[in-house]
Amino acid sequence: MENIVLVGFMGTGKTTVGLLLAKQTGMPLVDMDTLIEERAGKPITEIFAQDGEPHFRELERDIARALAAQEGQIISTGGGIVLNPDNLTDYEKKGLVVCLQAAPETILERVKNDSTRPLLAGDKPEKIIQLLETRKSLYEAIPHQIDTNGADPKSIAAKIIALYESNNS
Ligand code: S3P
Repeated sequence: MENIVLVGFMGTGKTTVGLLLAKQTGMPLVDMDTLIEERAGKPITEIFAQDGEPHFRELERDIARALAAQEGQIISTGGGIVLNPDNLTDYEKKGLVVCLQAAPETILERVKNDSTRPLLAGDKPEKIIQLLETRKSLYEAIPHQIDTNGADPKSIAAKIIALYESNNS
């Protein structure tokens, strides 16, 4: 059975939708950031602060490679998964890769009280706009896109399941 791989910028709802998908399909939810933290033995903020972003990206790459070799999982990725094209190439071999999209205002609303994302530390609105701009084309290149603005997570999960079923029938 194929994996369902959720991709998208921070705050696009990957974890929320991933939990619903896991509940509805019975497949386990695997959260890449959690695995990275377990592997490193510390939270993401500390990995970035003590070891630097390149080290974080290496851990992320290793975990993507390992997860992509397995089947039947709902995989919630970190927003920067698109930075290394090998990650998506690997996931696409055995998985339905879906990109969740949201407008900067929606993202800001969802992450405004969050301090666990080092790339958004400081001036959040500014950082969101800048990062979205540099990554826009990478997210848009993913064939399956879902607009999450004002959408109920349940309806997003239902759309993804319908897509998954039509791909597997
Ligand atoms: C990142 C997104 C985060 C996490 C890390 C870097 C990014 O995951 O992997 O802080 O580069 O966009 P979420 O998308 O789950 O917030």
